[in-house]
Amino acid sequence: MPVRASTAIACANIAFIKYWGNRDESLRLPASGSISMNLAGLQTQTRVAFDESLHGDLLSINGQPVRGADLQRVSSILDEVRRMAGGVHYARVESQNNFPAGVGIASSAAAFAALALASSNAAGLALSEAQLSRLARRGSGSACRSIPGGFVEWRAGTGDEDSFGVSIAPPDHWALTDCILLISSAPKTTSSTEGHRLAATSPLQTSRLADAPRRLEICRSAILQRDFEALAEIVELDSNWMHAVMMTSRPPLFYWQEATLTAMREVSAARKAGLPVCYTVDAGPNIHVLCERSREDQVLALLAKLPSIQEVRLAHVGGPARTTDL
Ligand code: DP6
Repeated sequence: MPVRASTAIACANIAFIKYWGNRDESLRLPASGSISMNLAGLQTQTRVAFDESLHGDLLSINGQPVRGADLQRVSSILDEVRRMAGGVHYARVESQNNFPAGVGIASSAAAFAALALASSNAAGLALSEAQLSRLARRGSGSACRSIPGGFVEWRAGTGDEDSFGVSIAPPDHWALTDCILLISSAPKTTSSTEGHRLAATSPLQTSRLADAPRRLEICRSAILQRDFEALAEIVELDSNWMHAVMMTSRPPLFYWQEATLTAMREVSAARKAGLPVCYTVDAGPNIHVLCERSREDQVLALLAKLPSIQEVRLAHVGGPARTTDL
């Protein structure tokens, strides 16, 4: 067949317990497990077409041709798919995001989850959820959590075979909202990939990793019991600890801006005053403010008072990666 194509959609996710640091960089085997919630509506749609007339892989993102390191990263996933399928054709990859990339809202997670699903389908492979998650992980660690739906745990595993995302609760288990505050849409100066490399240079990373099983357990049971207070405390601790590692690595990484810290303080103060709300921040200045859906109006009223916020986007709990092929 001259052209074999498939299209897939995957959503971004926000980590409650973060992935920061690899024990095997090339396979993206994490130094500890992590837990996230898929973000409905913040999504990447990717079409992959293996085409015998091509002389190399082609990539476009939002209609713009992409070359260099980003194309190589996509080609390495396609190489893996070609290896599994025993095929040799190059592919045309067309990807569209409906949210800004490279600013700490896990665009690579949505992108590599959609790529794993579309490329394996187009190659005629019928991969299991675990196999898809492992494939997505090799492109971007957090992408393995955007393959299953709802609330997802990525178990660190012992190797490539058992390091993948598993749904711990479906999207309708708990009506949570992530209010994403865009403080800056400028691309971050240090990528997550580079940040993972620096994590081990922080004197705080050893204690962070040693405590990870405890935080994962508290987070997992807070989700299963829909216990917002327990979730809030562990989510903020985990985010702060990761940023403490970032700030104490060599060289240090500072992702927060003034408005990030102001928002963190206001959210914590509101919780002390009785509003069930908490924050978490990824590798960028933007802040994710979590609440139960029933509290959205109260939380939006709080956020409306904050300075230097360009935009607030709401995301509810998202489903698994899916194809749009008929
Ligand atoms: C802070 O998955 O983006 O968002 O594997 O290099 O693509 P790469 O890293 P990435 O790292 C995510 C870092 C984080 C925390 C998280 O999502 O768990």
